[in-house]
Amino acid sequence: MAAVTSQTTQTGQDEVTDLSKQYDTPMGLAHSTMQALKDRIKLHYDLASDYYLNLWGEHIHHGYWATDEAKAKDTKEVAQVNLIRLLLEISKVSEGARVLDTGCGIGGTSRFLASELGCTVTGITISTKQVEMATRLTKAEAAKQIQGDHKTVTLDADGFIALGKGKVRFLELDAEKMGEYFASDAGTFDVVWISEALSHFPNKALFFQNAFKVLKQGGKLVLADWFKGEELNQTQFDNDIKPIEDGMLLPPLCTQPDYVKFATDAGLKVFHEPKDISKDVSKTWDISWSLVQNPSLWAFAFSQGRDGIAFLQAFRAMRRGYSNGSFRYAVMSFQKEQSYPTSIDISRPQPPPPPAHLLSSGPVRSDPSKIMATYPQPRNQRGAELGILVPPRMDVGELRNSKTENRINGWSPNA
Ligand SMILES: C[S@@+](CC[C@H](N)C(=O)[O-])C[C@H]1O[C@@H](n2cnc3c(N)ncnc32)[C@H](O)[C@@H]1O
Repeated sequence: MAAVTSQTTQTGQDEVTDLSKQYDTPMGLAHSTMQALKDRIKLHYDLASDYYLNLWGEHIHHGYWATDEAKAKDTKEVAQVNLIRLLLEISKVSEGARVLDTGCGIGGTSRFLASELGCTVTGITISTKQVEMATRLTKAEAAKQIQGDHKTVTLDADGFIALGKGKVRFLELDAEKMGEYFASDAGTFDVVWISEALSHFPNKALFFQNAFKVLKQGGKLVLADWFKGEELNQTQFDNDIKPIEDGMLLPPLCTQPDYVKFATDAGLKVFHEPKDISKDVSKTWDISWSLVQNPSLWAFAFSQGRDGIAFLQAFRAMRRGYSNGSFRYAVMSFQKEQSYPTSIDISRPQPPPPPAHLLSSGPVRSDPSKIMATYPQPRNQRGAELGILVPPRMDVGELRNSKTENRINGWSPNA
C-alpha cells in the first residue's frame, strides 16, 4: 500500500514522520490459509512480547480514559487497568470466579483478577514466549507476597501459582481448540474473558460456541475488541480498515452487531449491550505513535521483514480509523442462561405443610405471590439459592405457566 501515504490527508491523526516515511509497505497478500495466519500471529507474539512489555507494560490492550479529567491526567498504565474495571462493571464478575482468560497475553489481566478478586484464572495464549513471560512475571509478583527470606514460589498440582486470594496458571493453546481441550471441564468456568484477542481468530462463531460449552449455567462471557464501523464505503474500507487488518494480522474485522449475532446464535444472552468506547480509548494510539518514534524499534521491525514494518505502519492507520469513525472499539458481555431445576428433590427435608387457609382457598398455585409471602421456603434447594421462591413439589413446568414466570425471567443474579 504505497497508497497509505499518498491517499490520505496528513492530519494530526495521521502523522507521517520522517522515520515512518522510510518504511512504507506494500499491502500484504491475502493470507494463504488461516493456519498460515495463526502461525504468523504466534511468531509475532513470540518475537514482539518483550517489546510490548517494555513499551506497554504487562497489559497488551487499550487504555480507557472515560472523562476529560482522566484524559488529561491518567497514565496509560492507569487507563489500562480502568479498561479492566469497566469490563468488570459491565459483567458483574463475582469474587472468586473461575475464569478462562482467552488470549491472555503476558498475563496482566489474569494476575489482576486473581489479586483483586480472588479469581482462579487459567490464561491461554497461542504464544510459547508469552506463557514463559506470563509465568515468570506471575512468580515474581507471587514472591513479593511471601513473607520472610524464603521466597520460593511453587506451583500446585494443576500448575496454579497462588496470587493474593486467587491463583493463576498459563497454558499454550490455540483458543480455537479450547472446546476440545476443556471438554472434561465443560460447563465449569464462571467466566470466559477475552480482551483484544478475538479479532485475531479466524472462526469467530466457533469461539462463541466454545465459550458456551465451557461456561457454567449463569456464567459470563466478557469481551473487549476492535471492530470496523457499520456500512463503510469501499474507500473507507481500503484506506482505514485494510491496513489495520494487514498490519495487525487480523482476519476480516467484524462489526459489533456481528458479535451479538454470533453470541446469540451460540445460545448466549446479551448481559450488557455493546458499549462503544472508541473516543475514550483512541488516545492509546497517540501514545503508541509517539512511543514508536524510536529508530531501534523500526530497525527491529525491519529485521522481522514485511510483517514487522506493516505492524508499525498500522499504528498510523489505527489513529486515522478512530479519527474517521471507521474503526471502532467496544466492550460487551453475555451470559449462559441459568438453568432451573426441572423437578424438586422430594427426598430432601421438606418444610412444614402450608397454612390451612391456603389449602382451602382453591388452587394453591393460582396466586404464587401469596404463597411466597406466607410459605416458608425450602433452603438448600437450587431455586431457593437463586432467590426464586419455589413452592415445594411444584414442578417448574407448572411454575412457568403460573404468574411466577416473569419473576424467573426477570431474575438477575446482580439485581
Ligand atoms: C492484543 S493481545 C491481548 C492480550 C491480553 N488479552 C491483554 O489484554 O493484555 C492478543 C492475544 O491474543 C492471543 N491469540 C491470538 N490468536 C490466538 C489463538 N488462536 N489462540 C490463543 N491465543 C491467541 C495472542 O497470543 C495474544 O496473547
